[in-house]
Amino acid sequence: MQHHLSLKPYNTFGIDAIVENFIAITEPAQLAGIGAISGAKHVLGGGSNILLTGDVKGIVLLNKIKGITQLKEDADYVWLSVGAGEVWHELVLHTVSLGLGGMENLALIPGTVGASPMQNIGAYGAEARDVIDSVTFWHWQECNFVTFTNAECRFGYRDSIFKNELKGKVFITSVVYKLRKHPVFNTSYGAIEQELAHMNVTQLSLKAIAQAVINIRTSKLPDPAVIGNAGSFFKNPTVPVAQFDKLMDRYPGLPCYRVSEHEVKIPAGWLIEQCGWKGYRHGAIGVHARQALVLVNYGGASGAEIWQLSGEIVASVEKKFGIELEREVQVW
Ligand code: EPU
Repeated sequence: MQHHLSLKPYNTFGIDAIVENFIAITEPAQLAGIGAISGAKHVLGGGSNILLTGDVKGIVLLNKIKGITQLKEDADYVWLSVGAGEVWHELVLHTVSLGLGGMENLALIPGTVGASPMQNIGAYGAEARDVIDSVTFWHWQECNFVTFTNAECRFGYRDSIFKNELKGKVFITSVVYKLRKHPVFNTSYGAIEQELAHMNVTQLSLKAIAQAVINIRTSKLPDPAVIGNAGSFFKNPTVPVAQFDKLMDRYPGLPCYRVSEHEVKIPAGWLIEQCGWKGYRHGAIGVHARQALVLVNYGGASGAEIWQLSGEIVASVEKKFGIELEREVQVW
């Protein structure tokens, strides 16, 4: 166990916050002993979806549980059990190389396997819930391992039971994914088709789709190794159709995704850009110039400054559009 350690290398925003106690978990068997230690327990994977607004009390547990095991297969699917500390993008590349379909649209998402059920990571027309079969975790209060089926995880848009009822109560140790032996390609997300054409791809493959997604993400999103960020800072808001129609009268160019008969999702990046924030910079903090949904730390910013900027953005979107943005990142 390490004490009074800087978390700067462990969060992609690159915020320099100090934690009281820090330990890497490499084996699920360590968890029973850790459970006996009093004080708050915070679980860290790739640190790509958190904002540290100050020093952290208690203990940070870095999830380093590794391993990929094939559990079973049938004529159509392969079930892989994966340690929650595996790097997500490496897993995607591994499954693509095995010819297994389902993760290719989720290439290059930063973070670890443990985060995939936590916030139901998603991009380019796919979500983790489409491939998750079950999730195993250690329950701090019950002092045992529990396995939830996909349905029990109560997945929603960037949401799950782990961000709600089980928040702070569990440590995810492994995830079982169910992957297709005969992939079904999903290129319906506009930019993918365009990128595949640009790449001169004539024969669709898992590898080509993953590469198209990698190219699109690289062109739009800042690399956390270069500029501190946590991907989308806000969720895309969902509004009732009646409210959307009124907004359309005022802003005919308003982009949207229809989510149901009654509701429409609006890209938060568009709303933020309309409020004039895109490319904004003040000292070390800013709003990314190619994707207004991403807040950035150019180096040396505090989490509190980024939190304040996010509050100003929420207030201006609320004032102009009457829509309240919800933060997607976890705030510690
Ligand atoms: N847009 C703007 N200005 C901007 C950004 C976006 O006008 O600065 C508009 C454009 O009209 C664009 C539309 O918003 O066509 C959608 O933009 P984009 O395709 O970049 O997707 P998004 O809705 O902004 C979501 C996810 C991303 C994911 C992409 C691609 C959320 C919160 N974000 O962003 O996820 O990569 O779709 O599927 O749902 C993340 O969660 O960290 C993340 C990066």
